[in-house]
Amino acid sequence: MASSSTPFHECRTYYLKSGISQSGFSSVRIPIRWSAHTLPSDPNTIDDAFMSRVQEVVDQAIQENLKVIINTHHFNELFYDDRDYSYQRSRLLKFWQQISNRFPISQYGEEKLIFEFLNEPHEDVGVREWNSLVVDLTNLVWNKNANTQNNALGQRKVMIGTADWGGVAKLPYLRLPRAANPKNTIITVHFYEPFKFTHQGASWVEGADGWIGTRWLATQSQRNVLLDYLNVVDKWNAAPNRGFEINIGEFGVYSLYAPPEDQQAWTAFITREAEKRGYSWNYWEYSSGFGAYDPHSGHWRKALLGGLIPEDVDSL
Ligand code: BGC
Repeated sequence: MASSSTPFHECRTYYLKSGISQSGFSSVRIPIRWSAHTLPSDPNTIDDAFMSRVQEVVDQAIQENLKVIINTHHFNELFYDDRDYSYQRSRLLKFWQQISNRFPISQYGEEKLIFEFLNEPHEDVGVREWNSLVVDLTNLVWNKNANTQNNALGQRKVMIGTADWGGVAKLPYLRLPRAANPKNTIITVHFYEPFKFTHQGASWVEGADGWIGTRWLATQSQRNVLLDYLNVVDKWNAAPNRGFEINIGEFGVYSLYAPPEDQQAWTAFITREAEKRGYSWNYWEYSSGFGAYDPHSGHWRKALLGGLIPEDVDSL
């Protein structure tokens, strides 16, 4: 799919079976819960079978011509273990040390594999904690692991999100280290506004049952709400020494209750706005509650896919 920026179109695994790349997607973002597959105490070794499985999935995706983002997903001990924040923080750095060892830039080039340090920092990882982690994580990858993560062409590309669940609101508080530049850094934000629409009936969100029936009809005022958020991003990125690739790393509508036509209209609106602005995007997600692919029928959900990639849907 053509785009001036590098588009990252989200899906989980099974791309081979379902043909993610053939459906027009050019990237997968693979959410990985390292903390559940790592020794809980020193030296926090990642289980080798798990690491190998991740590597296998990354390899398959690259063979399918998909760009790959790997992240740290659902690291709840870091967010909620108040007694031991500094220990959990050191674990995050240890994950990325081991990931850096396994995925050298000589084998996984900077245009093929992106490291996204942490999905949706929140709770114990506020603005201050996140800014400090970003310094240490970039230092770890670009300096401490310079021999495996830098080459003549550049450095490992990293993806950096925002505190407070990855939303746009905390973007103005993100402090990037001096070494970050548009060649080695992508800024990612998550987009689920209006939350009462996108998360209506979501079992993991308190009170979401009360939102069932919330519509998104693409009225001017509804569109303006979304445009205001996107404009915050544009404004931030237009400041001197910025001009980063912006990635909408998650956006989507929980499917169980939202009317499919609203879901499609919202998804198409965000996708087209992102593309207009030169942002890349990753739809959340592949085949679960928000899924573009229906694993039961073995087919893509055409209306939704049509909202994401209108030019390709007819050929399916
Ligand atoms: C979370 C998922 C959740 C999604 C939408 C993601 O970042 O990891 O568990 O389904 O956001 O709420």
